[in-house]
Amino acid sequence: MKSIVVANWKMNPPTMREAKKLFDATRKAAESAKNVTLIVAPPAIFLRDLRARYKGKRVAFALQQASAEGSGAYTGDISLLQAKDAGAQYVIVGHSEQRAKGETNEAAGKVVAAALVCGMTPILCVGERERSQNGEHFSFVKEQLRAAFADVEPSKVTKVLVAYEPVWAIGGEKTMSPRDMHEMTIFIRKTLVGMSSGGGSTSGGKGYEAGMNVKILYGGATTESNALPMLQESGAQGFIVGHVSIDAFRFAALISSLS
Ligand code: PGA
Repeated sequence: MKSIVVANWKMNPPTMREAKKLFDATRKAAESAKNVTLIVAPPAIFLRDLRARYKGKRVAFALQQASAEGSGAYTGDISLLQAKDAGAQYVIVGHSEQRAKGETNEAAGKVVAAALVCGMTPILCVGERERSQNGEHFSFVKEQLRAAFADVEPSKVTKVLVAYEPVWAIGGEKTMSPRDMHEMTIFIRKTLVGMSSGGGSTSGGKGYEAGMNVKILYGGATTESNALPMLQESGAQGFIVGHVSIDAFRFAALISSLS
């Protein structure tokens, strides 16, 4: 099965010139790794230009953050239709850096639902800020999932990519262990299967059986040295890569480690 790698450039690089250079290196890495689906999430301001100069099919594009609203008086926001028009097929939803600025679980859920209506694939980010001995991080993630899928029809559940990103690992060099991630992928799938239509818990309602097949990505300190064991042992299908994705050399090494 093909693995999925999302290159989340965050607010980098500073100029279009550098963005083009980074994109060219990224594209080359993708072209030599046939078993990897690469999704580049550049800053929105670079998206259309990068899309326009790319004629191939091996790289897809994502918007880093979108509004659930269709249009109107939302200064600074970008709509899903605008992102689609610029060439994005995917949208990152509920990244922890947006949640830290106040995005709620419910707001993320509205973007997930709106993205599906527009025919875009939401990459829903969930993950706790810290781990607790008594397992509170599981209920935290469960609540994020419940709200995010509240308006998703059970038949659409596998159209959402779920990215588990433990906030405490983001930006560093050390991931969580593949074993802990394996526990989390099982938990996420079970949680989705256990939800009834409308995001509640099952009590005879129509469950999200397809939740068992949802694709899960891992994000947080993914590097060229830890990606492969994570892919092999965790039950995740791929990654969201932050700081390593803006280092052309390291990112190429990461992609080639997976092929
Ligand atoms: P990182 O970021 O790879 O730099 O840890 C991942 C993310 O925030 O998506």
